[in-house]
Amino acid sequence: MEIVPLSDAVGAEIRSVDLRETLSVETLDQIEQAFHDYAIVLLRDQDITLEQQKTFALHFGELGSRNRPGPKPNEIDEYGEHVMLVTNVRENGKAIGSLPDGEMTFHADTAYFEFPSKATMLYAMELPSWGGNTLFSNCYAAAEQLPEEMKRRLDGQKAMQVYEYGTTLKTKEKYDRENFPHYAHPVFRKHPATGRSALFVSELMTEEIVGMPKAESDEILGKLFEHQKKAEMVYEHEWKVGDLVMWDNRCTIHARTDFPRDERRMLRRLTIQDTTPVVEGAVPYRQAAAE
Ligand code: OGA
Ligand code: MN
Repeated sequence: MEIVPLSDAVGAEIRSVDLRETLSVETLDQIEQAFHDYAIVLLRDQDITLEQQKTFALHFGELGSRNRPGPKPNEIDEYGEHVMLVTNVRENGKAIGSLPDGEMTFHADTAYFEFPSKATMLYAMELPSWGGNTLFSNCYAAAEQLPEEMKRRLDGQKAMQVYEYGTTLKTKEKYDRENFPHYAHPVFRKHPATGRSALFVSELMTEEIVGMPKAESDEILGKLFEHQKKAEMVYEHEWKVGDLVMWDNRCTIHARTDFPRDERRMLRRLTIQDTTPVVEGAVPYRQAAAE
């Protein structure tokens, strides 16, 4: 197996692994290590069934449910509880999957739950002629590279994560908290495997720093969202059919670029449930002071 970094920011490609085969414990350990070291792993040229994708995913934990409280997007039922088709393909004018069209703002999946997904796995099946790239931003780097003063201001704070299902662009100032899930998580969360602190906010889902005056909270969040978009923190993935990408949802956020509405895009998505609670991370300046 070969592990090749995808960028200076985040991510690595794992080569010479065929997911149709039974993987040895040693291979799986190496993949898990790469996942912890690089936060995103890419395996190219895979030709796998849903069952093979599930078998691979189950090495990293239990599958998460695609089911969501509140209004449900229109989804194909034959794929069952755990599978989400991320697609703009339409039948009788209705999208057959979720997150159909166009650009998406940066987010961490299910950040608005008490137990956000540990990881998400997308397998590319059909792609448009341009766009639909997925951007990944490194939340460890984002935490570490904040100005010292900002680290101090955010030390020990929590941020409210809210999301109205089906929204792909942050266009509303406030989501409807009565009818949609929301949860306040630490701004800096500690990764249970690596011990590192990650900046756990995102433009699509984070509405406020809890307990802070609105003007101050808006100003800080605005700065954090811009910080997360800096080129040196971001890897942009240009999909090829057969790509399987698994990202660590505890230390990365992701977004999507626009693509033509009239061209088919289809990715098969599984998530891995987290079993450990979200824990406050040491703010990097405190971490450094303790070392
Ligand atoms: C997701 C997601 C982005 C994409 O599946 O959670 O954000 O590129 N997908 O479709
Ligand atoms: Mn997502």
